[in-house]
Amino acid sequence: MQKFCTVIAHRNPRLSRGTLHMSTEMGEVLGLADGDKISLFAGRLSTPLKLSIGSQILGRNIDISPDVLKQLNLSASSKYGICINDEGIHLGPVVGIMADISSDSNRPYGGQSFFFSQLIKIGMAMGQICFVFSTNSVNFSRKIINGYTFGKDGWKKGVFPIPDVVYPREAGYSMPKLRIRRKMQSLGCIFINPPLMGKWETHKILSQHPTLSSYIPDTNLATSFHQVDRMLKRYGAVYLKPINSSRGRNIIRVLKRKKANLYDYQYQANSQPRIGTSNGIYGLHHRLERFMEKRGYIVQQRINLLRVDGNIVDVRILVQKDHAGQWLITGKACRIGRRGSITSNICSGGSASKVEKVLGRSFSDPIQIERILTEMDNLAIESAQALEADTSSMGELGIDIGIDNTGKLWFIEANLRPARQIFTLIGESATRIRSVQRPLLYARYLAGFSQER
Ligand SMILES: Nc1ncnc2c1ncn2[C@@H]1O[C@H](COP(=O)(O)OP(=O)(O)O)[C@@H](O)[C@H]1O
Ligand SMILES: [Mg+2]
Repeated sequence: MQKFCTVIAHRNPRLSRGTLHMSTEMGEVLGLADGDKISLFAGRLSTPLKLSIGSQILGRNIDISPDVLKQLNLSASSKYGICINDEGIHLGPVVGIMADISSDSNRPYGGQSFFFSQLIKIGMAMGQICFVFSTNSVNFSRKIINGYTFGKDGWKKGVFPIPDVVYPREAGYSMPKLRIRRKMQSLGCIFINPPLMGKWETHKILSQHPTLSSYIPDTNLATSFHQVDRMLKRYGAVYLKPINSSRGRNIIRVLKRKKANLYDYQYQANSQPRIGTSNGIYGLHHRLERFMEKRGYIVQQRINLLRVDGNIVDVRILVQKDHAGQWLITGKACRIGRRGSITSNICSGGSASKVEKVLGRSFSDPIQIERILTEMDNLAIESAQALEADTSSMGELGIDIGIDNTGKLWFIEANLRPARQIFTLIGESATRIRSVQRPLLYARYLAGFSQER
């Protein structure tokens, strides 16, 4: 496969309709000859072309007739990645970020607005056509999408081709969204991540894995409170977690007192901790059923997580694929729960700290610290590989790993829409930039623009 290369596309009104003119050098790179008839693609939009190759243009430049530029929604004098395959010549790749839009025109994608603006800037510098869109703005018959891009003057509306690669960042999951995804896939769009991976599915896959099973806390589907009681008798403390939830929402911790039929529970509702004690398992059921609603839950042994100043700590590791489609560790950070909190999530008030700093406070032996750091990286990469092997192709995961006070590691969960803010919070701006670049490099790989290492 060719090495990744970019060209500057110029608008040339002197060219006859449907023509692309390139230098002899570019013709050689792409293996094309003067007079070839070929299609030009931007995302899933394409148009037939007649090629002219000659010395009137030099190096990595191409001239395009105005009708072609217009048809493919391309901008003049812009840098684009270029590659060739059985379909034709491709420019970009075109990368669409799928997300829910809000009514705030300054921050149309809420808390993700800054992240998306960074993605677009970095993507454009790499020769990509990068924009944000919502599922309801795809025009399948014309193969175009009304979306937003980000430039000098902020967010701007635009019309873009249906992309080569979609980076799904929308919250939640619904049948209409899934139908749009399937339809886009049938046109050849590749999605970086699957739409959903529940905690129970993740557990089933990893608990059967030969080398990973020892890291997986004992977990069951919470089909009844008898089930919860059985786990409590065994472990003394459990976490009840919704199967399809994130950000620490609707999680409950239950402790069973040793010599009494009493159950101490804690959860967070409307940002306030709710703490109580129930008599007997029926009493507990009665107290929790309204809060749990009809959501499906898992019940999991409580891990005795490390603590910093009495607050629980765990580790978030971001694993991402790169331009060669390989899993890599992008970065990691500790999350320290708010005082008294049963979860460490940043969005429920947790703070962030460098992993080495937390480990240095908790363990005195440098060899043990080194072992924990290496084992943690291996656990994250192997979990990503195992989850992918048993579900579908993935490009990035935010993996939560717990360390207990003996130094043993536990896999807590894997997130398909990881946040990056944590790297800013621990002052690792280079890691943050890398975390934004990698999905774009992986998109380039997925779209077939390069496989160089
Ligand atoms: N089994 C457990 N034992 C101890 N703490 C846990 C356990 N499960 C979750 N937690 C704490 O709760 C947080 C949120 O749980 P998690 O499974 O990651 O759900 P969410 O998807 O809501 O983030 C974890 O980061 C960890 O701090
Ligand atoms: Mg989590």
